[in-house]
Amino acid sequence: MKKFRDLPTPCLILDLDRFEGNLDRMSRFVTERAVALRPHSKTHKCPQIAQRQIARGAIGICVATIAEAEVMVRSGIQGLLITAELVGQPKLSRFVELLKRAPNTMLVVDNIEGVSELQTVVQRAGLQSGVLIDLDIGQNRTGIKPGEPARELADTIARSPNLRLKGLCAYAGHVAHASGFETRLQKSRDAISLALETRDRLRQAGHDLPILSVGSTGTYNIDSDIAGVTEIQAGSYVFMDVEYRQIGSASDNVYTDFSPALTVLATVIHRSQGKAIVDAGLKAFATDRPFGPELLDVTGVKYEFAGDEHGRLVLENPSRPINIGDTLRFMLPHCDPNVNLYDRIHCIQGDDVVDVWSIMDRSGGYF
Ligand SMILES: Cc1ncc(COP(=O)(O)O)c(C=O)c1O
Repeated sequence: MKKFRDLPTPCLILDLDRFEGNLDRMSRFVTERAVALRPHSKTHKCPQIAQRQIARGAIGICVATIAEAEVMVRSGIQGLLITAELVGQPKLSRFVELLKRAPNTMLVVDNIEGVSELQTVVQRAGLQSGVLIDLDIGQNRTGIKPGEPARELADTIARSPNLRLKGLCAYAGHVAHASGFETRLQKSRDAISLALETRDRLRQAGHDLPILSVGSTGTYNIDSDIAGVTEIQAGSYVFMDVEYRQIGSASDNVYTDFSPALTVLATVIHRSQGKAIVDAGLKAFATDRPFGPELLDVTGVKYEFAGDEHGRLVLENPSRPINIGDTLRFMLPHCDPNVNLYDRIHCIQGDDVVDVWSIMDRSGGYF
């Protein structure tokens, strides 16, 4: 069997034991709380992972793009929620084709023109589509404002014969990485109370809203305790990353609820006084955060970006010798954009490569 240390570097390595431990942990947690899990697959873009999430009880998956939705549906995944608005005919016509194969797919909407455009294309195809109102509960990205604007949008959806209002999607992206559990607790409760007030107002206006979909890896254990939340959209918990480890958990300064399962494998290609150079630089890691990757299982070493193909290891007080030709595993700074840089994931058990999974068949569009 092929050993992972013989793979060409840089490449993505998934430790299956840690990964499955993460899936089991989340699955047990939501089952105990009697809340559903519709995990976000923007993190992994990988049907094999979505299938494993569903096999452990997830009610479906979230996707961020029409291309992700197509890849998942081609692999037989159902129960999709598309969490970003689809605007313009090129995307809407693909959405209609998708609906034919996956009629229970739901799409978020956040404005009246979008509802009208969606109603037209879905009606023309003789179909029905479930929709959730995308609510801006503080992230200031997409989403209609809570309260009256959301009520007007709900009325418009109710007047659209081919659309079915299923509920609210209220992602508090500004809270997911708030540092310190108590801070996250307060911020998330405040944000979700806006969604609950809106849900009540819409119900009073006669709308049935069975779904309130919220949450992230940072708030899964906060939001699942809030009465009225029906499902959690966490994504990063499957892989974990440096960013999430920094936010702290309910009991620890480091967020250790889930283990770092996905790493980039790199080779030491140069060694000189106090430093080593690896073959993984700006093209191997996401660079959207003010920090870089961190070595898995080695302390006393600091990574610095040193170019497109190079990373510098400052050997402050390494917990093991680092020599030329060594292969080292790095935790990702931010998992979602990091995964998007690669085409496949090498799955390992111990030292063995036991499987290789495709991240995204790009033929339907790059993202
Ligand atoms: C709409 C939406 N829901 C859920 C998530 C999942 O969050 P996380 O990966 O932090 O668990 C994201 C992540 O960006 C998102 O954009």
